[in-house]
Amino acid sequence: MSVTVQNLTKIYGAQRAVDRISFQAKAGEVLGFLGPNGAGKTTTMKIITSFLPPDEGVATVCGFDVSKQPMESRRRIGYLPEHNPLYKDMYVREYLAFIAGLHKLANVRQRVGEMIEMTGLGREQHKQIGALSKGYRQRVGLAQAMLHDPDVLILDEPTSGLDPNQLADIRKLIRQLGQEKTVIFSTHIMQEVKAICDRVLIINRGKIVADDSIEGLQRRIAAESAVTVEFEKMPPKKALAGLPHLRELRELGKNRFQLISGPEADLRAAIFDFAVEHHIKLLELHKEVYEIDEVFQKLTQ
Ligand SMILES: Nc1ncnc2c1ncn2[C@@H]1O[C@H](COP(=O)(O)OP(=O)(O)OP(=O)(O)O)[C@@H](O)[C@H]1O
Ligand SMILES: [Mg+2]
Repeated sequence: MSVTVQNLTKIYGAQRAVDRISFQAKAGEVLGFLGPNGAGKTTTMKIITSFLPPDEGVATVCGFDVSKQPMESRRRIGYLPEHNPLYKDMYVREYLAFIAGLHKLANVRQRVGEMIEMTGLGREQHKQIGALSKGYRQRVGLAQAMLHDPDVLILDEPTSGLDPNQLADIRKLIRQLGQEKTVIFSTHIMQEVKAICDRVLIINRGKIVADDSIEGLQRRIAAESAVTVEFEKMPPKKALAGLPHLRELRELGKNRFQLISGPEADLRAAIFDFAVEHHIKLLELHKEVYEIDEVFQKLTQ
């Protein structure tokens, strides 16, 4: 495991900003950190990157305890902080070379060039950071995080402020990075989690309320399973209503129905057999799934 977090807790006065959080992340995995404002995402990330000490619990990065061996763990982390602090009066290349120097990299010129290429900064590379648009500053932040080729990337809202084209590019980049590295990124955007992540951690008021794949979450949250079907002509309704596992039959329109069952059942096969048996063609057959934002609302409200 490249990142392990065990019972991590951060207390501010009377508030448990992070409350006994535990999770693990491995290489080749993109872990989405999802939660409403104030949930504790940034605080958790600051602890993993040794910017904040935990009040309780242990976090390790590539086997190094972030409290006891912060230099060792930080060497293996690339971090894009929430507000992406940059030196605005430095030039893009100059800044990246400066960061490369801090990491004592040998091949500074080459590595800076690679990062500029990778993050699509080519056309902006000779500008002052202060003169860049927000999206391009975000790219500089990402380039900075990846310079020393770390095993673990901690990205706090990496796509905030990006236009749709940039969004697509950066998401693709994060997915690519996630093939080899461990990527933990936070976001409020459900679609983003769906587009990028293998796994999602939903955090609410300092606690983890879900740790699962997107499909797993959708299954878990479903109180019922609904299948919509349209027949070419009116089917014998009594026979349809007699399908096993069926809880409710809703008529949606001409020859269209919604069939409700428990979340464990999938009525599609039975409907298909029914149609064949009664010699009625199927024009539509699909299972409704909960969208990820509904899952999020259910878990964090
Ligand atoms: N230095 C601090 N002093 C007091 N309270 C703090 C401090 N830093 C964070 N908190 C509180 O801890 C809680 C978690 O904050 P955190 O920044 O981790 O949330 P977040 O999930 O990143 O939210 P957002 O989505 O808005 O970025 C919040 O209620 C916040 O007010
Ligand atoms: Mg935050």
